[in-house]
Amino acid sequence: MRTPILVTGALGQIGAELVPALRERYGADRVVASDIRIVPRSELFGDGPFEFLDTTKAKRIEEVVRRYDIGTIYHLAALLSAVAEEKPQVAWDLNMGGLYRVLEVARQHRCAVFVPSSIGAFGPNTPKERTPQDTIQRPTTMYGVTKVAGELLCDYYHLRFGLDTRGVRFPGLISHAAPPGGGTTDYAVDIFHAAVRHGRYTCFLRQGTSLDMMYMPDAIKAMIDLMEADEARLVHRNAFNVTAMHFTPEVLAAEIGKRVPGFTMDYAVDPVRQAIADSWPDSLDDSAAREEWGWSPDYDLPAMVDDMLANLRRKLQPAEAAEAARS
Ligand SMILES: NC(=O)c1ccc[n+]([C@@H]2O[C@H](COP(=O)([O-])OP(=O)(O)OC[C@H]3O[C@@H](n4cnc5c(N)ncnc54)[C@H](O)[C@@H]3O)[C@@H](O)[C@H]2O)c1
Repeated sequence: MRTPILVTGALGQIGAELVPALRERYGADRVVASDIRIVPRSELFGDGPFEFLDTTKAKRIEEVVRRYDIGTIYHLAALLSAVAEEKPQVAWDLNMGGLYRVLEVARQHRCAVFVPSSIGAFGPNTPKERTPQDTIQRPTTMYGVTKVAGELLCDYYHLRFGLDTRGVRFPGLISHAAPPGGGTTDYAVDIFHAAVRHGRYTCFLRQGTSLDMMYMPDAIKAMIDLMEADEARLVHRNAFNVTAMHFTPEVLAAEIGKRVPGFTMDYAVDPVRQAIADSWPDSLDDSAAREEWGWSPDYDLPAMVDDMLANLRRKLQPAEAAEAARS
């Protein structure tokens, strides 16, 4: 991978784990984290540069790329599915406007660019089971529209300008480090917090809603492995199907229940997020990623549930014990 590396939207769910992983691999001073949010220094990633960077401002992107002589950009700043449905105009401005500006600066400075797409790039008339790499993409959400258009724009910059653009279509990502940013699959993170804290959870998706998911360490591995893959082996670029598991809310709840005695779940369906979930695939075929750059996840459902619960118990229970002692 060409360094230094710039990460946009670095304070989000993915960036919170990508930046430390990149810094460990390439050196803290070779990875510039950036975001539009300002947080206290103590909440940043320790050593290593941080820049305030709004990806809708081309001049500012260029300034940072030039100052650090950036070789690769991980472009994470975007509005997620549920929030994008609430604010479609803002989503278009950020998801498309930001991407276009990042690609333009990358073109001028010859940076490689990673852009995450999503299972949201598929729609209701996409084949739902083992959704192929190349298939119908007619999403019915603003998020999906920006993801398909983003995939096409990244491929265009590769074909037209020879830019090294690469991406994956992530499923729902499950993590314990940073809260999710307003997606349709957030229930699969919220459920763990509720299980550890309260022993019960109210799910906003209906029973039987099957979606692809992935544990964050696998997502980080995918982002690094794809950018390090031999270009000559890549037939596809934007964007590869990747998945690790698929399950329904009740299957996840049962798996948690095996480890949290007495855990219960009921449902209060959110029609907006349910409609989004219903328009997405039930399971993806990720054989192109496996063949072209050796993709293979480490975590299946039981391994992910074990690790999530162990980490959250370590994190949440001491804080709660301290709170109980205070009150
Ligand atoms: N998390 C998932 O489950 C998932 C699944 C599929 C695809 N993705 C994609 O991965 C990318 C990152 O997702 P995430 O979950 O980390 O999102 P997130 O919402 O957790 O984080 C996004 C970050 O972008 C920042 N941001 C917002 N507006 C900005 C602007 N104008 N300029 C710079 N930064 C800005 C926010 O402050 C936030 O820290 C997105 O493109 C998303 O669509 C995520």
